Amino acid sequence: MLGSEIMGYYRRGGERDRLAAGQGRLEFLRTWDVLCRVLSGAPAAVLDVGGATGVYAGPLAQAGYQVRVVDPVPEHVADAAVLPGVSAVIGDARALPAEDGSVDAVLLLGPLYHLSDRADRVTAWREAARVVRAGGVVVGATISRFASLFDGFVKDYFSDARFRPLAERALADGVHRNVDAERSWFTSAYFHHPDELAGEVAEAGLIVRRRVAVEGPLWMTGQRLTEILASPDLTGLLLEMMRSVEDEPSLLGASSHILTIAVRRIEGVGGMEG
Ligand SMILES: C[S@@+](CC[C@H](N)C(=O)[O-])C[C@H]1O[C@@H](n2cnc3c(N)ncnc32)[C@H](O)[C@@H]1O
Repeated sequence: MLGSEIMGYYRRGGERDRLAAGQGRLEFLRTWDVLCRVLSGAPAAVLDVGGATGVYAGPLAQAGYQVRVVDPVPEHVADAAVLPGVSAVIGDARALPAEDGSVDAVLLLGPLYHLSDRADRVTAWREAARVVRAGGVVVGATISRFASLFDGFVKDYFSDARFRPLAERALADGVHRNVDAERSWFTSAYFHHPDELAGEVAEAGLIVRRRVAVEGPLWMTGQRLTEILASPDLTGLLLEMMRSVEDEPSLLGASSHILTIAVRRIEGVGGMEG
């Protein structure tokens, strides 16, 4: 299932509060804002694949959705399973424990950037296509090919000489591999070029409707981002303004995360292509 290095990284518990402040908080607020607009209304059934500790599953359940988390990390599943209204099970995006056409929506907010083989990513999308009902939506999160380069400067990773070869490898082919056990920059991952997404999704038989820039370049604004997020007015303004540019293709590569919104075709109905 999950490689031991990735499993070890997540077993350290970082997902419990990763989205609580700063860049993570921006990622959460923007992703939530998009989900609220693309999911069909509650009480739709949502399969949250790679849902970790239930950071989205919890609020979705509170909003009336029927949510099931699937995640390979036992500690994540244990945390998610105790959230009110959330069920959780150990599993892998490439072999989902769900019946064909049994859910209204599938979230893939995590697995796609941990599958470095294209065939595995297409399999994850194909599994989502299998379990979602006709006309249902699949939302996949990916990390931009350029995020590691930018983060290297924002967080001063380049001051460690071991970081540059990792960043260069990721720029060359998208594959990020920690080479040094003592120093962890995230964990093994795949960073997508925005132009790769449509092909992977289409190969899995889904129809791509939108590619959304989650943060744009605002995730790199450091202390200013913290100040903005401390102000409800500024946060509201940020969300409103980002909504107006989120479909702009030229912002995708500068964003840390990209959401791809796809739907399963309704047989016999034309005009679904987005
Ligand atoms: C960075 S966390 C994201 C968690 C949460 N969905 C979010 O968006 O904040 C990535 C998650 O993907 C999960 N994951 C990694 N590989 C996976 C796979 N092959 N199948 C399902 N989940 C996977 C990890 O266990 C982890 O919970």
